[in-house]
Amino acid sequence: MWRCVSRGIRIPSSKSTAADSVRRLFSTSSGAAPSYTVVDHTYDAVVVGAGGAGLRAAIGLSEHGFNTACITKLFPTRSHTVAAQGGINAALGNMTEDDWRWHMYDTVKGSDWLGDQDAIQYMCREAPKAVIELENYGLPFSRTEDGKIYQRAFGGQSLNFGKGGQAYRCACAADRTGHALLHTLYGQAMKHNTQFFVEYFALDLLMGNDGSCQGVIALNMEDGTLHRFRAASTILATGGYGRAYFSATSAHTCTGDGNAMVARAGLPLEDLEFVQFHPTGIYGAGCLITEGSRGEGGILRNSEGERFMERYAPTAKDLASRDVVSRSMTMEIREGRGVGPLKDHIYLHLNHLPPEVLKERLPGISETAAIFAGVDVTKEPIPVLPTVHYNMGGIPTNYHGEVVTIKGNDPDAVIPGLFAAGEAACASVHGANRLGANSLLDIVVFGRACANRVAEIQKPGAKQRQLEKDAGEKTLSWLDKLRNSNGTLPTSKIRLNMQRVMQNNAAVFRTQETLEEGCQLIDKAWESFHDVKLKDRSLIWNSDLIETIELENLLINACITMHSAEARQESRGAHAREDFTKRDDENWMRHTLGYWENEKVRLDYRPVHMNTLDDEIDTFPPKARVY
Ligand code: FUM
Repeated sequence: MWRCVSRGIRIPSSKSTAADSVRRLFSTSSGAAPSYTVVDHTYDAVVVGAGGAGLRAAIGLSEHGFNTACITKLFPTRSHTVAAQGGINAALGNMTEDDWRWHMYDTVKGSDWLGDQDAIQYMCREAPKAVIELENYGLPFSRTEDGKIYQRAFGGQSLNFGKGGQAYRCACAADRTGHALLHTLYGQAMKHNTQFFVEYFALDLLMGNDGSCQGVIALNMEDGTLHRFRAASTILATGGYGRAYFSATSAHTCTGDGNAMVARAGLPLEDLEFVQFHPTGIYGAGCLITEGSRGEGGILRNSEGERFMERYAPTAKDLASRDVVSRSMTMEIREGRGVGPLKDHIYLHLNHLPPEVLKERLPGISETAAIFAGVDVTKEPIPVLPTVHYNMGGIPTNYHGEVVTIKGNDPDAVIPGLFAAGEAACASVHGANRLGANSLLDIVVFGRACANRVAEIQKPGAKQRQLEKDAGEKTLSWLDKLRNSNGTLPTSKIRLNMQRVMQNNAAVFRTQETLEEGCQLIDKAWESFHDVKLKDRSLIWNSDLIETIELENLLINACITMHSAEARQESRGAHAREDFTKRDDENWMRHTLGYWENEKVRLDYRPVHMNTLDDEIDTFPPKARVY
């Protein structure tokens, strides 16, 4: 039966159905009130997001025999994974001898000892298998002369626990690795019977009264129908929230939707203060110029023509980790050695590299530089600036991909039925700073881990609990209110304000003053959201509504980011405080948990995992991080 909840909104009562078998329609008696059609589905598992992590999870679930739905706001091959350039790390040893333990050491060091070492061990040990699996799926990797997968140098990668020089560990398909990977995974997903719900926007989790996750509710953007997906397992693979910032390499669709769904469900987000600035975004446009360009021999120079990275990182130079390079570039600009009329950026030189290397290994960025910077890379340097690129923080998970939280004395309590993978998640394999090319690895390893874990704890076709009686009601009321918002501020104005606050106050370098001001300003930006005005009230392709939902999601992420950063009084990885310049392991070797409660941020903390999975490797104790 249908029940009216508010403003004429009706939702179906809970009922067990076969997948997609029931379509319930509602029309109002008066015709005046808005009407919503709500459709119920039941699946063994539902994956939200169809980037690399979501597709890999969906493939694994289907392979294990689970009836799986994949909900995505974009057509799968438009997901942001497509924009990844440089490659995927794995100790394949194709160029030199290599070992996953060396990769693990680099990743722990790269994370500035905030990464969970059990999860890092898991990822690095799985990496060679994951890359060979991709090769077998048909990913067209670049090749060496003798036909092996070509591996390039990338930042922060070393041999022999930092003592053996630069590692060549990054497997790539020229500089379009994400494109190749995403299309390969989509092809594989097509082999299985995963049911795709394309251009469906996931709105909220459906949580049980017992604290378990029972699925999600989503909006079909094409026809405005609402869909409740009941599932024993829900996997969030919704990507990052780079668009909270003014200048980001992220797609405009990277709005932290899964993170916000988790926060609205009363669950915490972890370590959001750690936001990665990629050293080489094109000045002005923000487009990514891959770290692979430095891996192939590219060099950063200041206005004096100096290769300044030799001063900041004498061993690794331009291939130091990203936080180090971004800070060094910012220092050069601050000290008056930036390039251009305003001396506010840096030059990346590739013009000394052989044209055939540029053509074969870096064709994508050669084109990007020509289009967005008007530069012929064979002749001129590319103007670049550190640009927001990645969120190390996200939905806290263990190395199986299960979402965790603090319950009583247990800092690792699992939320039954809820998983996360990829940039949305915080496993935490990247800790305070991610190494380049560990992101494509993360998405395939943990997408697969989620599927494997579901297979361990759930049987295909197992009977599921009923949804709670009021499942989705709150979301429908919220959606209806948002759709009818009639304040004074357009979505775009609030968004621009938020982006400027984040860019100015949660930047590469931070101080108590900038962060305190940032907290005030971002809280105000949130308050201003109550005065948002939508012009389009329809439910069919209402981009005004979608952008407003995305803005709310971004604002929740932004508020937690700023408050988490203000509280952390140390410098670690990408969180560089000018007033607390040292890493403080005694007080701050812990994960931040940010809760969104009554529209305010509350912080708590949980310990970093300093244990490994087994005796194949010992933990790496903290030490000074130099490159
Ligand atoms: O520079 C890049 O190609 C980016 C790679 C990454 O973020 O992993």
